[in-house]
Order: sequence, then structure tokens, then C-alpha cells
Amino acid sequence: MSDTRKIVEVMKLHKVYKDFWGREKVKAVTNLNFDVRQGEIFGLLGPNGAGKTTTIKLLLGLLFPSHGKVTIFNQSPRSIFSKNRLGFLPEESYLYPYQNAEEALNFYAKLFNLPAKVRKKRVNDLIEMVGLDRARKRFIKEYSKGMARRIGIAQALINDPEFIILDEPTSGLDPIGTREIKDLILELKKHGKTILLCSHLLSDVEDVCDRFCILYNGHKICEGDIDTLLENEDVMQVTSKGLDPDRQKRLAHWFAKEGVEVYQLGNKKQRLESFFLQQIEKAREEQMEQQKTKRELKEFVAEVQKDQQPKDVLEQLVAKPVEKEQPKVKEEPAPEVKVEDLIKKEQPKSTEESEVKVEVNQNLIDSLINKKETNNPPK
Ligand SMILES: Nc1ncnc2c1ncn2[C@@H]1O[C@H](COP(=O)(O)OP(=O)(O)OP(=O)(O)O)[C@@H](O)[C@H]1O
Ligand SMILES: [Mg+2]
Repeated sequence: MSDTRKIVEVMKLHKVYKDFWGREKVKAVTNLNFDVRQGEIFGLLGPNGAGKTTTIKLLLGLLFPSHGKVTIFNQSPRSIFSKNRLGFLPEESYLYPYQNAEEALNFYAKLFNLPAKVRKKRVNDLIEMVGLDRARKRFIKEYSKGMARRIGIAQALINDPEFIILDEPTSGLDPIGTREIKDLILELKKHGKTILLCSHLLSDVEDVCDRFCILYNGHKICEGDIDTLLENEDVMQVTSKGLDPDRQKRLAHWFAKEGVEVYQLGNKKQRLESFFLQQIEKAREEQMEQQKTKRELKEFVAEVQKDQQPKDVLEQLVAKPVEKEQPKVKEEPAPEVKVEDLIKKEQPKSTEESEVKVEVNQNLIDSLINKKETNNPPK
């Protein structure tokens, strides 16, 4: 590992934040030295306010060092060469809230001048990789914290960078999301990427990092290989399987006889993370099994209905005239219709009606005649 190329070199780095008058406000980083080597995952650890984000901003060229030097790919952090090979996930992603996942990634891909074909493929692959396939058309403002983190990670990988800086990549993620992101980081390492991981979640760092350094109040307080630093030479650990209580007792007796101080002898506890993931996996499988049974049942019912349906329809279609026998109508020859009959039918039904009509007319005439007579008095 020591022969490998140094991707990042930090030498005697100081950063002092000053106020408006140029007076010293905060010494965020003091005399920091470390390097990140090609193909490794390097952890930058420290409590809140230790200077991790400030160091990252210096590596990205977003801040100028007060003293000291930073190089990335042997170049200044502000050079286009190093920026092209760098991916960055900020502590908080500032993505446009009214873009969806596709649009956001397309936007960043365009900033890197990726050709349309490459862009389309990269956007699709990344959305799938970070598990946002089903939410790809939703506005980012509607995303949960974990989803926003995932799209942030996808954005950091849009230019297929050689070196990736991740500031708190798992913040806001549930244990499953955290595990997925850790697996993703390890996968990226397998593909030859170099990663600087900044976190105060120690289990994250322990699970994925090769080397780390710890900052405290801007000072580096330790640096090294994770296995070496975490190994306790004085303490021996034996892990075995199938040691029943009787044999455990005998073993404890033997240790006591030998004068060996035993800190702990008993069944090994698994980590809460793996226990949690096991439980979730079990629940997921059970749910899937239930859904499968439901689906199978539905399919079975549909199959049965399918078998019955055409028969019923046929029966309905074919058997209807047979089942509901229409009263047989005697087929009689159509009555002969004569023209005179039709004319008769046209005439008023009752003769009284016509008589009344005539009567009325007669009265009218009579009255008119009488009127005429009264109008012309006899001479
Ligand atoms: N823009 C700024 N102006 C003045 N002081 C700042 C500025 N940014 C950070 N600091 C100070 O620098 C110190 C280091 O801050 P930094 O954000 O680098 O810490 P950190 O290790 O990233 O912490 P956290 O784990 O909370 O993210 C803190 O004391 C902080 O208050
Ligand atoms: Mg920070």
C-alpha cells in the first residue's frame, strides 16, 4: 500500500476563520498532515466541530488554506484536471427542489459535458444503483431524508470520478439504507475508486475504512491502519463453535489454573446492526411469502372463473331460448286488408261526435241568420 500513488497530500495545513476586520475567529485546522492513497478508503473522524468539513472544503478548493499545502492528483485542488476526476457528496445536498431525480442527475451530467448517450445511461444506472428507481419522477422536495442522501450520492458519482469525497454519507439513512451505502462504498473500492469518508458514525468507518485519522479541535490526534490501530496486543480473543456449558466450565477452570485473567467467557453477541438486518430480512421474506400465497390464490380463483365463465356464457347464450320457452303463437295467415276498411278506420269512431259537430254548426248558422234578421227590421 505504501508504494501506491498518493491521490491526496495534505501538508502542514492550517485554516483560521477570520471576522470582517481580519481578526482571528476560529482555528479550525492546525498543522494537519495526512495522505490518501490510490484504491483505499480513508476515514476522517472527529467529534462535532473538529474540523472535518473545513478540511474537505480545503481539499475541494472551496476554501484557501491560511498556511500549508493541499494537492489532489499532484495538482492544485482548484485545477480543472483534479475537479474532473473528483466526486463530492456534501454534508447537506443542495439540489433543486422542483427537479426530479432524472432531471437533477441530467443537470449535473451536463455540467460535466457528458455526451447525451453516455448521460442517459449513466443517469439510469445511478438511479438504479442508489435504489430510487420507483421515485425517479418525483420532485426532490418530496424526498425523505434518506432518499435525498441517495440522490446526493448519485450526483457525486455522475462523472464516474476516480476520487470520491463523502461527507457523512449515511446521515439520515435507516439501518438498511446505511448497510446499502456501506456496501456501495465497498463496491466502488472494488472498482478501483479512492474514497475519503468523513463521519462521526464509528461503525460506518470501522466497517469500510482501510485507514483513518482522528481530528480533535483541528488537530490530528492519531492516524493509521484500522486493523493495526484497533488491535489490542494484550488481549487474546478465541472464537469457537459448539462449546457446550460443561466444556466452557472446564475451560474456565483451566484458565484459572494457568493464572490467565479471563475478561469474558460466554456466547458471542452479534452486533445490533446484523441482528436488525436479519429481523428485517425475515419480515420481508414472510411478507413476500404472504403476497406470493395471495397472488397464487388470486390466480387460482381467476383460473377457476376462467374455466367456468365461457361455459356460463355459452349456456346463457345457447340455453336462453330453450329455458325460457316463448308462448307459441299460432301462425295464422295475415288478414286481408281492404282499402274500404282503412277508410272506415279513418272516419270518426262515434257518430254522436259528428252529430254534435253538425248541431253546433247549425246553431251558429241559425243565430247568424237571426242576427241578420234583427239587423234588418221589417219595413
Ligand atoms: N464559515 C465559518 N466561519 C467561522 N467559523 C467556522 C466556519 N465554518 C466552520 N467554522 C468553525 O470551524 C470549526 C470546525 O468546523 P467544521 O464544520 O469543520 O467541523 P466538523 O468536524 O465538520 O463538525 P461536524 O461534525 O459538526 O460537521 C468549528 O468550530 C466551526 O464553528
Ligand atoms: Mg462537518
